[in-house]
Amino acid sequence: TSILILNGPNLNLLGTRQPDVYGHTTLADIEAMCRTKATALGIAIAFGQSNSEGALVDHIHAARGVHDGIILNAGAYTHTSIALMDAISSVEIPTVELHLSNIHSREEFRHRSYIAKVALGVICGFGATGYTLAMDALAGHLGQAG
Ligand code: DQA
Repeated sequence: TSILILNGPNLNLLGTRQPDVYGHTTLADIEAMCRTKATALGIAIAFGQSNSEGALVDHIHAARGVHDGIILNAGAYTHTSIALMDAISSVEIPTVELHLSNIHSREEFRHRSYIAKVALGVICGFGATGYTLAMDALAGHLGQAG
C-alpha cells in the first residue's frame, strides 16, 4: 500500500505562517510524523508540495498506478479548483481531503470545497495531527491493518 500526501499553496510556509491559525509545526515536521506513522502502519508514502495548481494536477495524474490513495491538503485551491476536483475524479484514486484548520468555523468563502465532492472523506480542524488521522482512515479503507 502506498499513499501520496500532497500539499498545496502556502503550506511550504507552515511554522511561520499565521501560527495562531495553523500552529508552529513545519511541513518538514509533518513529513517526519507521517513517515513514523507509515512505518507503524507498514505502508509506503510519498510527500509532495506545490504552490501551482497545474503542478498539483500533474502530481495527481502521476499517482495513477503508483499510489493506492491520496491525502490532499489543497490549501486555498480547495475552494476554487474545478481542475483539481476533475483530476481526482479522472484518476479514480481514493482521496482524503485534509485541512489543518476547521474551514467551517472560518470565513464563508472557505466553507465551499470542490475537493469534498469527490473525496472519500474530509478531516479538518485537528492541526498537524490530521495528517496521521487521515493516514489511519485511508489505510483502513484500503484494507491495511492499523
Ligand atoms: C487550509 C485551509 C484553507 O482554507 C487555506 O486556504 C489554506 C490551508 C488548512 O489546512 O487549514 O491554505 O487548507
